[in-house]
Amino acid sequence: MLKAIAVSPAKVILFGEHFVVSGNSAISMTIDLPTVVTVELLKGDEIQIRSEDLGVEAAFSPSGEIAQSAGANAEDTLRPIFEVADFTLKKLKQSGHGLKIAVKSRVPIGMGLGSSAATAVGTVSAITTLLGWPLPKEDVFDAAYSLEKIVHGHPSGVDQATITYGGLISYRKGKVDATLQVKPPMLIIGNTGKRRSTGEFVGRVKKLRETEPKKYGTIASEAQKISESAMGALRNGQPETLGALMNENQRLLELVGVSSPDLEKLISAARSAEAFGAKLTGGGGGGCMIAVVGKTTCARVSRSIQEAGGQVVPSEFVPHGVQTSLNED
Ligand code: PMV
Repeated sequence: MLKAIAVSPAKVILFGEHFVVSGNSAISMTIDLPTVVTVELLKGDEIQIRSEDLGVEAAFSPSGEIAQSAGANAEDTLRPIFEVADFTLKKLKQSGHGLKIAVKSRVPIGMGLGSSAATAVGTVSAITTLLGWPLPKEDVFDAAYSLEKIVHGHPSGVDQATITYGGLISYRKGKVDATLQVKPPMLIIGNTGKRRSTGEFVGRVKKLRETEPKKYGTIASEAQKISESAMGALRNGQPETLGALMNENQRLLELVGVSSPDLEKLISAARSAEAFGAKLTGGGGGGCMIAVVGKTTCARVSRSIQEAGGQVVPSEFVPHGVQTSLNED
């Protein structure tokens, strides 16, 4: 049976989350926590989806009715993947194909590391490869971003772009602005273990932008300067400067109301163990934080985050985005 396999990395945002939604620059990079999406053709027109990690599966009719399901909240959990598959088939004018989709991921869900974007980008890539229409990266990004717009209202697309293109990138206004060919800083990722919805916190910032545009504008322009300085510090390999900029960025994220006591506990723990700097990463309100460290402080910062109740997410930078292959077995 012919199978297409897409392996998507996860991502961390180093600078500029939330402000990127209103047109600022964000800096992000891919990390080696893979999400593997495997797709094969099925007789008939059903779309069967299984998440191995969550132990759920469901079969959808082409119009989206659920034909059968197994496992807790299977339909709610798997419907977004059905939407991606349906959208991709329609885009290729190939509706009516039966598909069997399996997702296996090492990315913790709802923690700001891009689990849903990794699944969406992987699903688009695997289906288009299986059907013999592998899309260029712009189109994979476009498809995953269009879908995110349908589901979440006003996303910036930074997650989808990072995972599609990969590496260390600067992203602004719907496109990758620059790919930095430099060694990224040494980071520790700490997870609060508190799952939250990015949409809720994006909504909170939108409200501030609408009700207090002047205040928001001042904060956002400071955030833009931080992202620009961070590009320089990355290019020049200055982790101390990057750390200080992260601390500044965190202060602005607190001002717009997307931080949380759990995050701040881990951020303080990292700083008191002499990380160069630390901030939340992604949507905030829980989820993950990052700290820039040096070789000598790496172990100490990890321990300090764990002692403060966080889980350290072991991961390394990877210089590429989603990768696909075809397998016959
Ligand atoms: O999906 P998350 O939690 O990694 O956050 C994405 C980044 C935000 O800037 C908060 C939202 C967006 O659309 O850019």
